[in-house]
Amino acid sequence: MSYENPGLPDVVVEDLILYRLGGGFYRTYLATTGLIGNERVLEFGCGGGTMSRHILTRLGGDGRLTCLDISEFWMEKAKRRLSGDSRATFICGDITASPLLADDAFDMILIHIMLHDVPAADRKAIVTTLATHLAPSGKICIREPTDRNHGMPPSEIRALMRDAGLVEVKGTAAASSSMMFGHLFSGEFRRP
Ligand SMILES: C[S@@+](CC[C@H](N)C(=O)[O-])C[C@H]1O[C@@H](n2cnc3c(N)ncnc32)[C@H](O)[C@@H]1O
Repeated sequence: MSYENPGLPDVVVEDLILYRLGGGFYRTYLATTGLIGNERVLEFGCGGGTMSRHILTRLGGDGRLTCLDISEFWMEKAKRRLSGDSRATFICGDITASPLLADDAFDMILIHIMLHDVPAADRKAIVTTLATHLAPSGKICIREPTDRNHGMPPSEIRALMRDAGLVEVKGTAAASSSMMFGHLFSGEFRRP
């Protein structure tokens, strides 16, 4: 999948189906994460900022959101949509290649429908690096598709989190299939 040069269908689906019409899909999930509003949140793999927009709606004046993506194309889109909000910061790059973030910097890291697209061999380094950026008692919230043809198994997510030193607080495999992404697993993993 090309993140720098996405095809027109991907751009249209992202804008029309997810950004303009998909609010409920994002808000419903966000409501389950326990976000209070004063947290320092990292959205890892923020894409065009669809989820980021809903995170900002839930954050209060003292909350902060860092939007990080490896793709300049999607990062520019997120900036165009959200950069008027002074609580949001935007970082483009590969967290495993160079230090982009401070240690212990985040109360919550959100990984939403992106890790399954990362090559399997790269996932461990990413999750291990992300865990170093959690504040004590901070948590990673993750929602990923799990179907064989488009997704990753919950057992792999659990193993990645465990190997990064995180403890599972909750993990739920949705019984019903979502229209866009098939079956989804949602999990919460805390730094002890
Ligand atoms: C399907 S989009 C998800 C966007 C957003 N999280 C959402 O739910 O609307 C996946 C995003 O992950 C980004 N991505 C893929 N690999 C990445 C990596 N190693 N580091 C940061 N972002 C990455 C892609 O560039 C893309 O914007």
